[in-house]
Amino acid sequence: MQYLEVKTQSHSYKIVVGREIFEKSLSDILTDSSNDRLFLLADENLFHHHGEQLLKSLQHFSGDVRHMLVPQGESSKSVKFWESSVNFLLTNGVRRNTPLIVAGGGVTGDLGGFAAASVLRGIPIIHIPTTVLAMVDSSIGGKTGINHSTGKNLIGAFYQPKAVIADTRFLTSLPRREWINGLSEILKYGAISDAEIFNEASIFLSADYLSTDREKLISLIFKCMKIKADIVAADEFESGIRAFLNFGHTFAHALEKACNYDSISHGEAVYLGMLAAQKLSRLSGSSLTGDFLEAYRPLYQFRVQPAEVSRDDIYSFMFQDKKRTDEHLKFVLLDEWQSPAVKTVTNKEYIKDAIELMIHQLKQSQPGKS
Ligand code: GLY
Repeated sequence: MQYLEVKTQSHSYKIVVGREIFEKSLSDILTDSSNDRLFLLADENLFHHHGEQLLKSLQHFSGDVRHMLVPQGESSKSVKFWESSVNFLLTNGVRRNTPLIVAGGGVTGDLGGFAAASVLRGIPIIHIPTTVLAMVDSSIGGKTGINHSTGKNLIGAFYQPKAVIADTRFLTSLPRREWINGLSEILKYGAISDAEIFNEASIFLSADYLSTDREKLISLIFKCMKIKADIVAADEFESGIRAFLNFGHTFAHALEKACNYDSISHGEAVYLGMLAAQKLSRLSGSSLTGDFLEAYRPLYQFRVQPAEVSRDDIYSFMFQDKKRTDEHLKFVLLDEWQSPAVKTVTNKEYIKDAIELMIHQLKQSQPGKS
C-alpha cells in the first residue's frame, strides 16, 4: 500500500494506492461510529463486476448500505442525474456526516462529487476511482460537476474529498478502450511535467501489456497521481499552474461537444486535443522539438464520422469553454516539452488549422485508410 498526501488550503487528504486495499483503507477512514448508514454511488458496469463484493465490504462498516447505480457515459453527467443522486440521498435520510462512497470512472466521480458538494451544503465523500483516467486525474483535486447543453462541466464546484482509495483490483475488469482513454491523461503529464513518462508509457505499445506489464503500469499510474497531487496542492483553485492540466482540453471539450458527447470518449478527444495544441504551439512560435505523441496514434481507434464534425462548429464551441475570461481564447501551449504556458491566441487561422489537424486524424481512422 502506498500513500500520497494532497495538502490543499481548504483541506488535506490521503490518497491510498495498492491492490486489495479497499477494506483496510476504509477502516482507517471510516472511524466515525455515529454513522448509522453509508451511501454508495457506483458505475453500473463496475457494479456488475464488483457490486456484490463492494456491498459486502461496506456492510462491514454499517448494516445499512444504500446504493444507486450510474449508467456509463457522459449523459449521466446531467442535471437529471444530479437531481436523481440528490433525491437518492435526501429521501434516504442523509445527514451532514453521512459518507458517500463513489466508485467508478470520471463520470460517476464528477457527478457524485457535485451531489456531495451540494447536498446539505456538503457531505463527506470518498472517491474509489476504478479507471485509469479517474485514478490519474479526475478523482484527485476536487473538481466536481455536470454538463449543460451549452458545454461540458459548466455546472460544478471545487469540493475536496475526505480520501481517495485507488484499489488496482478494479482495473482487472477494465476494457482495453478504457486503458487507452487513461493513456491520454498519462501522456499529458509527459508533455507538461515529466517527459520520461513518454518512455515509460511505451509499454502500452506492446500487444500484451495488460497481461505482462501490470506492475509497470501501476507504478506509472502512481507517478502520474503524484504529479497531479503536487499540482493541486500548489494551486487548488486553478489560479496558476493547475491550468497546465488542461493541456489539449480546450480543443478536446469542443470536439466532444461537436460529437454530442457520444461518438468520442474524453480520452480520445484529449489525445487529439493535445495534437492540436502541439500544432498551435508551433504555429504560435514555439520551437518544440520532436513529437512524443505520434507513436501512440495507432492505439486510438476513433468511431466518429468526420462528416459529423465541422471545423467552424468546433471553433465556435471553444468560446463556450468555462475558462474563457475575455473575448479571446486562451490555450495551454508548450514552449518546450515539460515547459507549458497559458497563452492568448488571437490568430483565428492558427486555431482553425489546429482544429483541421484533429479532423484529418479522424479521417485517417476511417475504414480503408491506414
Ligand atoms: N482535470 C484537470 C484538473 O483537475 O484541474
